[in-house]
Amino acid sequence: MSGYASYIHFTQQVKQDLQEALQTADYSALFVLVDDHTRQHCLPVIAAALPAGYQLITIRPGEEHKNPDTCRHIWTALTEAQADRQALLLNLGGGVIGDMGGFCARTYKRGIAFWNIPTTLLAQVDASVGGKLGVDLAGYKNQIGIFSEPDRVIIDPVFFKTLPHDELLSGFAEMLKHGLIADADHYRELTGIDIKQADWLSLIPRSVKIKQDIVAKDPTERGLRKLLNFGHTIGHAIESYLLLQQRPVKHGFAVAAGMVCETFLSYQKGLLPEADMLNICDYLLAMFPPLAIDNSALAAIADLARQDKKNTSTTIQAVLLQAPGQAVIDKAITAADIRQALAFYQEKIK
Ligand SMILES: NC(=O)c1ccc[n+]([C@@H]2O[C@H](COP(=O)([O-])OP(=O)(O)OC[C@H]3O[C@@H](n4cnc5c(N)ncnc54)[C@H](O)[C@@H]3O)[C@@H](O)[C@H]2O)c1
Ligand SMILES: [Zn+2]
Repeated sequence: MSGYASYIHFTQQVKQDLQEALQTADYSALFVLVDDHTRQHCLPVIAAALPAGYQLITIRPGEEHKNPDTCRHIWTALTEAQADRQALLLNLGGGVIGDMGGFCARTYKRGIAFWNIPTTLLAQVDASVGGKLGVDLAGYKNQIGIFSEPDRVIIDPVFFKTLPHDELLSGFAEMLKHGLIADADHYRELTGIDIKQADWLSLIPRSVKIKQDIVAKDPTERGLRKLLNFGHTIGHAIESYLLLQQRPVKHGFAVAAGMVCETFLSYQKGLLPEADMLNICDYLLAMFPPLAIDNSALAAIADLARQDKKNTSTTIQAVLLQAPGQAVIDKAITAADIRQALAFYQEKIK
């Protein structure tokens, strides 16, 4: 498909396409990285395309295993199998597998090739694009990592057949974000679909393109790439707070709540007309589960937003909307603004 980075490929026949790609690729040994879930649900989809003698590396599923201990397990498996610099690692899974597998590949013997076959909506529209690889450390997300693009990405919605609904919805939040920051038509198109029976192959490429275009202009996040943080300044703080409360929520659900809050602030700061603000907020509130937060916690969440690594110590920089499909970076907001936005959100979900 033209207009996309050449290493990304959209298809409805992942098995055949993978088989063809492997036949023409030059590698000494093939390793496939899966977690327990993708081993059970996704490996059978592509198994017939894999050459005899490929080696499977299995890790336990979930963010809690995205850490240096699991990297050690992956590097050790490669070492014990005597993988050389021409080995190829195929990451089959969600964002955890892609981020960590990519990081392990690029650091094993100073870098071997890796391909991604993302199996969650979030990984297809977000994590597989943009070159951020890494793992968590000591409670901090993506604390250790590098920028490096995969050598190939094959995207096929077939994997959503086994994906839990909440995972699908979580990825959908990032698609809505792409529409809201850069493409009003994409946003409108998304708000018109029923996600239980969406034609994903007609929607995902456009979302990927939005992220790619932004990343291409600012690969290492010095400026424009910050647009992708829309909904994340407050959303990430909500996610961290609920995790500390032992009420973990899907990332996309927290981002959706964050987008409601940041859309409200866009209106409060005089950037976004009230009617647009209400339309966007009402849609997001109807689509995503409500995240109830005690009034007493609002200050703590505002403080978490302030501590986020993407902010300097005194001011909080947020991405705000000027219209659906148009956003601005580096808008200063205060802790009081965040408390007010969270109070608006809490009022709305009552
Ligand atoms: N690199 C980036 O730019 C970027 C962007 C966004 C998110 N991320 C990272 O991505 C991660 C989140 O990704 P995720 O939401 O895909 O999480 P995930 O990889 O943990 O997958 C979610 C769950 O779904 C299971 N699963 C995956 N595919 C399945 C399928 N087809 N059928 C059934 N079960 C399946 C997984 O085993 C897991 O339990 C986070 O670590 C986040 O930091 C990275
Ligand atoms: Zn996100």
